[in-house]
Amino acid sequence: MLSAVERKIEQFIADLNDKEVSQLYLQLPKGKRLRAKLILKIAGSGLSVIKTAAIVEMIHAASLLHDDVIDDAYTRRSKPSINALYGNKTAIMFGDILYSKGFLELNHISTEVAKTVSNAVVELSLGELKDVSLSKTFTLDRALYLEMIYQKTASLMEASAGAAALLAGKPKEVYMTYGRNLGIAFQMIDDILDITADEATLGKPALHDFEEGKTTLPYIYLYEVLEDDEKEKLRSLHAKRLSEEEQQWIKAKMQEHHIIQKSYAEAKLLVEEAIALMKSRGEDALSQIAMQMIDRDF
Ligand code: IPE
Ligand code: IPE
Ligand code: MG
Ligand code: MG
Ligand code: MG
Repeated sequence: MLSAVERKIEQFIADLNDKEVSQLYLQLPKGKRLRAKLILKIAGSGLSVIKTAAIVEMIHAASLLHDDVIDDAYTRRSKPSINALYGNKTAIMFGDILYSKGFLELNHISTEVAKTVSNAVVELSLGELKDVSLSKTFTLDRALYLEMIYQKTASLMEASAGAAALLAGKPKEVYMTYGRNLGIAFQMIDDILDITADEATLGKPALHDFEEGKTTLPYIYLYEVLEDDEKEKLRSLHAKRLSEEEQQWIKAKMQEHHIIQKSYAEAKLLVEEAIALMKSRGEDALSQIAMQMIDRDF
């Protein structure tokens, strides 16, 4: 059924009747389509469901187009990013086009679905803005980090699950809680993978977050346990281009203090809650998706 979603996205792009946009869409690799899978698993494969999944994936792609401009990232989905190929201006406008077409199409689903999804995009944008602001200084506030990742990442997964539940006549709140837990855990794992995985596996830059000024969960926990002189050293490396030696130092300290395990355990707890919720409803496929979200290496 995922192929029906692909066809629907292609149709939405064709509707725009613009050669340049069609050309750009061809340069956009597909990604894991996790949000679409989530929607299909909750709501089946009716036309409104397929359309909603296509809209959410277009919106998600738009957010990545803008995100790669924001993060100075030149690789995405194992290919050069659109900003790397055509510059920031094209990436921003292509993002705007995907967002707007998504919102336009939402009107044809239902008012409730449209509200749920567009509200999440407001949150996502607020979250991206907060991410940028937080990265200007060496911030170690866990509560702020959690709020920011909820907004930038979990809100759209929460809304995807909620919209799907609305379409399927299932209780919206339960599925939104599931999507929210999954989304927060998903971003925690993304932040861990930035440290533990390599660019070839990730399909996007590795060890890039700290250079961009982002003090993600592992950095917050690492700082807590470092000696004073090491704390100073970590601070001095913040938002700078790291040498090979400095990268190795960060990784070694993370290893010495079991920081990755600690961060992973936190993500796992959220996923276990999500799984319990789905098990109680006999939604086995959704429990499996939740497991895949944390057991991944890209
Ligand atoms: C990337 O999301 C952005 C984050 C929220 C971490 P995905 O990892 O789902 O990206 P694609 O769609 O598979 O490329
Ligand atoms: C998530 O944050 C991006 C969005 C929600 C758009 P990241 O900046 O960590 O995502 P990646 O690592 O570039 O995919
Ligand atoms: Mg990014
Ligand atoms: Mg980002
Ligand atoms: Mg990331």
